[in-house]
Amino acid sequence: MADIRLADEREAPPRPLRRHLLGVSDLQRADVTRILDTAATLSRSLEREVKKLPALRGRLVVNLFYESSTRTLSSFDLAAKRLSADTMSVRSSGSSVDKGESLKDTAVTLAAYDPDVIVIRHPQIGAPQLVASVTGAHVVNAGDGKHQHPTQALLDLHTMQQALGRLEGLHVAIVGDVLHSRVARSLIEALALVGARSTLVAPPTLIPRGIEAMGCETTSDIAAVASADVIYVLRMQQERMLAGAAYVPSLREYTALWGITPERVRPGQVVMHPGPMNRGVEIDPRVADSEAALITSQVRSGLVVRMAVLYDLLTSGPVEVPVALEVA
Ligand code: CP
Repeated sequence: MADIRLADEREAPPRPLRRHLLGVSDLQRADVTRILDTAATLSRSLEREVKKLPALRGRLVVNLFYESSTRTLSSFDLAAKRLSADTMSVRSSGSSVDKGESLKDTAVTLAAYDPDVIVIRHPQIGAPQLVASVTGAHVVNAGDGKHQHPTQALLDLHTMQQALGRLEGLHVAIVGDVLHSRVARSLIEALALVGARSTLVAPPTLIPRGIEAMGCETTSDIAAVASADVIYVLRMQQERMLAGAAYVPSLREYTALWGITPERVRPGQVVMHPGPMNRGVEIDPRVADSEAALITSQVRSGLVVRMAVLYDLLTSGPVEVPVALEVA
């Protein structure tokens, strides 16, 4: 494992190098702690005038995106650059995918450049596993269908820890379209891993049957958000909803019954949203733009957490701490 803390701060033995980050189930609690600690250290490096670190010089990170993205793609790209890696971003639109090239052939083609990491987003569940099976690269799942988005969960934990000072014992109300949400599935698992509690709050049609087995509670009563430390708002994913299926009577009714308005946020609570937001649907703009909202902090966390994930996958054993990182 990589350990960028000062020598006298190191107490844990090196971990075995993990090959991929395909889902939160690839992580143990110690992995989460280590990645969040690394992210916190790396965030100090970003306060310097020169923000680049040499850690991954000569490495290649390929971002392969079959779905649209603003935050995840830009932050992985910048994270790799901040660590001095080379980067290539390939979006399915405009590539030979448009000509019918399969995912396997696309992955094998890009693997010919010997990438160290392939970061993949794809609408099909299991696409990252396929890429991992046909290439020699470390693979990071940047979102596969409604299955997993593990780096989103890690950046959300980092944001909560920075804002609230702890993770263990936190109560997070996850509100909205859980049914279509990979963010929710990864976050529920990650919260359980660090000893936090999650309650899903949504219309019954948007709560997957049996999801309580992942370690969460469920309710349709929006009043349940009042007891949470964090209100985590999910986007209504209309693009993943089956045509003709009536998940909610109307968006207007959804907003009235489950939208997060200023009246539903009590003092002391924080509000999070993975983005992109449907302002005026799942979240009132007065909440999104309020002091309680951590949405911009989540984006900032995305950069340092993805730097930490790349660092963690690609380095092993203790490394020298760059002088600037020693400055608190
Ligand atoms: N939260 C998230 O995954 O955002 P993007 O779709 O913009 O990457």
